[in-house]
Amino acid sequence: MCGIVGYIGQRNATDVVVGGLQRLEYRGYDSAGIAILGAEGLQLRRSVGKLANLITRLASEPAAGSVGMGHTRWATHGGVTEINAHPHRDASGEIVVIQNGIVENYLELKGRLMEAGHTFLSQTDTEVIAHLVGVYFQQTGSLETAVRHAMADLRGGNAVVALCIHAPDTLVAARLGNAGGVVIGLGEDETFIASDIPAILDYTRDLIFLEDRDLAVITREGARITRLDGTPVTRPITNISWDPVAAAKGDFKHFMQKEIAEQPRALTDVLRGRIDQEAGQVFLDDLKLDTNALRRIDRIYATACGTAWHAGLMAKFMIEHFARVRVEVDYASEFRYREPVLGADALLLAITQSGETVDTLAAMEEARTQGVPSIALVNAIGSQAARVADGGPLYLHAGPEIGVASTKAFTSMLAASYLFALYLGQARGTLTPNQIRPHLQALIELPGKVAQVLESAAPICVQLADRFHHATNALFLGRQANYPIALEGALKLKEISYIHAEGYPAGEMKHGPVALIDEHMPVICIAPRDGIYEKMLSNIEQVKARGGEVIAIGSQGDDLLAAKASHVITVPSTLPLLQPILTVIPLQLLAYEVAVRRGCDVDQPRNLAKSVTVE
Ligand code: F6R
Repeated sequence: MCGIVGYIGQRNATDVVVGGLQRLEYRGYDSAGIAILGAEGLQLRRSVGKLANLITRLASEPAAGSVGMGHTRWATHGGVTEINAHPHRDASGEIVVIQNGIVENYLELKGRLMEAGHTFLSQTDTEVIAHLVGVYFQQTGSLETAVRHAMADLRGGNAVVALCIHAPDTLVAARLGNAGGVVIGLGEDETFIASDIPAILDYTRDLIFLEDRDLAVITREGARITRLDGTPVTRPITNISWDPVAAAKGDFKHFMQKEIAEQPRALTDVLRGRIDQEAGQVFLDDLKLDTNALRRIDRIYATACGTAWHAGLMAKFMIEHFARVRVEVDYASEFRYREPVLGADALLLAITQSGETVDTLAAMEEARTQGVPSIALVNAIGSQAARVADGGPLYLHAGPEIGVASTKAFTSMLAASYLFALYLGQARGTLTPNQIRPHLQALIELPGKVAQVLESAAPICVQLADRFHHATNALFLGRQANYPIALEGALKLKEISYIHAEGYPAGEMKHGPVALIDEHMPVICIAPRDGIYEKMLSNIEQVKARGGEVIAIGSQGDDLLAAKASHVITVPSTLPLLQPILTVIPLQLLAYEVAVRRGCDVDQPRNLAKSVTVE
């Protein structure tokens, strides 16, 4: 949520900062702003709406200088107005601040400052930080000390960058809590700051990640890091080897379309180096928990949000089936507030694409407090979840996911969960190499089968989208392992097309939702030939009897299903707990095609952001 970028060097800071913000716009696109310090002093430019508006503004009102910062906002406090856009100034106007996060006690701090005579222009919590830094700067004459004192007043989770005209060769960045990462990029006579790695990858691969309660004084020569209490600290320099081209859209119209198409490659990469088909073995060398620790586990808490939570539901099926360990699935946002009793031999499984979702990080923190280790299935390399996990991270290797609606990360989460479940079964002795071998074979065949579905389902989804894109409601039904896929299909459709959609276990439909069904309601039924296929067929009959129009996702060659449903998309067969990786593909394509036809902003749906770093 919210993207922040900072630069100090020899280049035109506006170009670097705006370029970085373009890479971060998926984190928030309510408004954007930059502050550049140069010969003309401190120049602020802010615009409501997408970054393109700010770029247009900069064309007529350029800002020049070699030091600067920028912000792309996902509004939390205060409406979407130019006044509320970052950067915010202090009372003197000589200090500017950008923030990612929430100041939970901002009303109290604002009240205190107003009593002391401060007036505020915006409704944001960030302006309070700017004023606090200003007050402490007046008292100490040091931007570093001023930020240190201001951070000590804040409650919540915040990533902050400050710039002052009296310290023109310095930026100060600080991080408190889990509100979002701060990564510092080291260059030759130039230093970069960003909330996410892709923003600065064009310039440097040498990165330092700030930890919770770190403060960095950033100059052209690099970064000096201390704890918020002033204790010096050394953070390692990590070299990132990704290809920034992977984050570009290429010939695709949207990132989501590209990321859907990339799934065969992503699934190949998640398996790479982790399986030995001949030996019937899974290798998860990145998992730092030893076999004895894995044997002792008697309960796993899968915690995640949104799409990743759907992957958690799937992980439960897989782990319980292969390793015979109880799994509870929790919304990370609920987890710590329900005062969970985790137990001595528990394990937390955090699943997250971004590795920055604040609720998921807080669930990991709760586990740590109770002495329970956590492992993370995470996509974003070097993200906070990856760094704080006790065992792992188990990287998904799906590559950067830019489209706000998660697609390739989801199927990679399912494949990684499958690998983890097999590995756990192998470590606990519930699976022999002979039993594991057919699963590895099925995993190896999976990318090819996904490629087949992408090809065969695409034209049907185009036709279905032509027919259904005016619908106002849709129902997604599935059973067992395809129930989470019904939830995921509904989430994909609602978040990018704004059509109200619900996912339900098909057997539950008769307990309420059946009342919604009429001839205007498309009902998407996921019905591959599996152990509960017959039951799904009965549910399909029930939908038809109420006039609902059935779109079925079924197995190749299933003529019976084709005869019953109004429309059918078939997928190749695989092992039952891998089947959802195939059945979800048509649902992603359908959501995409429908959203395109409705003229929606597919990659940046309204009100959403890619990394949710606020509670
Ligand atoms: C939906 C979607 C979200 C995320 C959720 C968790 O398409 O992308 O529901 O799955 O915000 O994000 P991560 O996986 O980054 O923790």
